[in-house]
Amino acid sequence: MKKEFKVTPYQVEGNVDYNKLIKEFGVSELDNPTLERIKKHTKELHFLLRRKVFFAHRDLNWLLDEYEKGNKFFLYTGRAPSGNVHIGHIIPWILCKWLQDKFNVEMWFQFPDEEKFLFKQNLTLEETEKYTYENMLDVIALGFNPKKTYFLIDTKHANLMYKEACKIAKKITFSVVKASFGFNDSTNIGSIFYTSMQAVPAILPSVLRKKNIPCLIPMGIDQDPHFRVSRDVIPKLGFYKPSIMHNVFLPPLQGTSGKMSASKEETAIYLVDSPEQVKLKINKYAFSGGQPTIEEHQKKGGNPDIDISYQYLRMLFEPDDNKLKKIHDDYKSGKLLTSELKSILIEKICSFLKEHQRKREQAKKQIDKFIFNESRFHKS
Ligand code: TRP
Repeated sequence: MKKEFKVTPYQVEGNVDYNKLIKEFGVSELDNPTLERIKKHTKELHFLLRRKVFFAHRDLNWLLDEYEKGNKFFLYTGRAPSGNVHIGHIIPWILCKWLQDKFNVEMWFQFPDEEKFLFKQNLTLEETEKYTYENMLDVIALGFNPKKTYFLIDTKHANLMYKEACKIAKKITFSVVKASFGFNDSTNIGSIFYTSMQAVPAILPSVLRKKNIPCLIPMGIDQDPHFRVSRDVIPKLGFYKPSIMHNVFLPPLQGTSGKMSASKEETAIYLVDSPEQVKLKINKYAFSGGQPTIEEHQKKGGNPDIDISYQYLRMLFEPDDNKLKKIHDDYKSGKLLTSELKSILIEKICSFLKEHQRKREQAKKQIDKFIFNESRFHKS
């Protein structure tokens, strides 16, 4: 049977059927009873949860059971530096920031600066070092609490991480990673080892504090294979399996197939883009669910489900449900034109980026407050 889409950490292609993916990956749907359990503690639900941008999970109910018994969790996610951050990357980070505030928990953020060096043809370690710095600024600018946030940079924190990575690596065979990531005999051996490095932050706080601490990982579903492999190993080392929350991909500007890709500039809006670039990209590329002519649009109406501008508002830039509904209904009825919808989005993105870029400047002075080191780490 021909597969019409593909999702791995290193390739996302085609029209992703998220219901099929839930079955294929063996994850659970993030259903309303589970969301209600979160809401019991947070009083409200973030729009990324209300709108099911986070749609699946692993062992979230177990994590909430533990929390309700007084066993607090920590958050973990990451970013492999390889280029500028785009608006699709920040979906899990926004949820992490919200969860950190609501549950008052620690955030462990990994920058595996070797990952994309190993997996990509033309990227040097000097370049990834530069992007590590740039990407850290974007993460800090989202507002994480410096007292409760720890950045781990693989090459910098190697002496802290390598020992744990070896323990994990010893329990993963080549045939398992081959099957999970599509490796073959020409794959370099650094790539084969990499999954064990990505598993380390899920146990490191437990190792350092010498007690078992539950871990929650919000992330894009493409990262699931890494944790499918390491979740089998981690209990064998005496730690809890990490829980996971999965988000859907932000579609590329061109339409609903695949994901926004940092390596294809015309598909993405970067956090360092200028208002002019945003305006140009949205007007030129954002796929429209509208009709070919204004007359036809006013008569038949547009289709918000496939309209990229509407989808970006829904997934990131219009938190107000009432305002979003009005945009949806007006577009569908034909009252709101594509050019008008695009203007709404451009205005929203530009005001977000203006604020983000200001905070990003300030973040340059704060980096040392976020990078892990023994002296700012509280053992208890
Ligand atoms: N592999 C991720 C990337 O390509 C980076 C990453 C490291 C990560 N640890 C993670 C992502 C934990 C999600 C959760 O960007």
